[in-house]
Amino acid sequence: MQNLETAPMDLSYDYALDRDCTTLSRHVLQQLQSFGSEAQDLSAIMSRIALAAKIIARRLSRAGLVEGALGFTGDINVQGEAVKKMDLFANEVFIAVFKQSGLVCQLASEEMEKPYYIPENCPVGRYTLLYDPIDGSSNVDINLNVGSIFSIRQQVGNDPEQTGLDLLQSGHRQLASGYVLYGPSTVLVYSIGTGVHTFTLDPSLGEFILSAENIQIPAHGSVYSVNEGNFWQCDEAIRDFIRYVHRHEGYTARYSGALVGDIHRILLQGGVFLYPGTLKQPEGKLRLLYESAPLAFLIEQAGGSASTGLEPLMSVVPTHLHQRTPLIIGSKDDVALAVSFIQEKVRMDEDRLMVNS
Ligand code: AHG
Ligand code: MN
Ligand code: MN
Repeated sequence: MQNLETAPMDLSYDYALDRDCTTLSRHVLQQLQSFGSEAQDLSAIMSRIALAAKIIARRLSRAGLVEGALGFTGDINVQGEAVKKMDLFANEVFIAVFKQSGLVCQLASEEMEKPYYIPENCPVGRYTLLYDPIDGSSNVDINLNVGSIFSIRQQVGNDPEQTGLDLLQSGHRQLASGYVLYGPSTVLVYSIGTGVHTFTLDPSLGEFILSAENIQIPAHGSVYSVNEGNFWQCDEAIRDFIRYVHRHEGYTARYSGALVGDIHRILLQGGVFLYPGTLKQPEGKLRLLYESAPLAFLIEQAGGSASTGLEPLMSVVPTHLHQRTPLIIGSKDDVALAVSFIQEKVRMDEDRLMVNS
């Protein structure tokens, strides 16, 4: 065994990371290989998202000590879900950092029934930000990981009625997406269509510093991540998939109650996350525009895939802002396996119909 008192301290990790402190805004410009106005705008938007993340991370890190960080507000949001104080705080942080930015004309979030317009930005701000301010907010009060999810789209038209109708486009229209994971460290993962990159918040610098570039999700992993408490609420095909992983060696269950945490594990180590439709919620729980589509964009950029079970997640065109969709996402082979159970069920139902007609 190594004698820790006499062994020379290995500082190579520190040096390796300090060698080239790439900040987020610089990285975006490098990725786009441009200093043009679009690249500058996207770089500035990412910096603003990073600022929001730092403010949220700071509050979360002292949540038991400051007023108004834990517990519920007493309100119910447009999703019919009880609002946590952190949900409200984080939602307002995103609005505050973008309000006078001149970058974003419209913000749409899980916590707001209608998009938040910033008319003074619209003549110059050509972008829309969709976001889930706190994902997994049931974890806040027990000091477990939570996240924020974001998606950047080009503003389409003027939408003077402020209906959000111009947002009803497929996931392919996203310019960039990502998430922030507030865990033991705060990690920002993003893609601007050129691979998936990770930044870690160095609290002593107050900066997100590049920690991993061009992450590729393994084609297969051992993790399956699904709320098995809903087993009897799920369709037979999903139950068959769950039975399959129970009966075959090499699978293990992980489910944190915060999508961002589960997806981060799967991005790095492989596996599949499922939130299928249930009897109570036939479209599942997760919202397309600011949860599922941003994560699908990111996971596809890392070489993984995402599906509703019936079609690629990225192809779904929503009919309303807060639309939910079933989600199966992660490693290519594992998503394909889960989807094959659904497709098989569809085929059998079709055959049965043919026989009966
Ligand atoms: P949010 O806190 O933004 O409403 O999202 C919670 C989501 C997601 O993070 C998680 O995977 C899922 O809800 C957990 O739901 P169940 O408790 O129904 O499994
Ligand atoms: Mn969420
Ligand atoms: Mn949320």
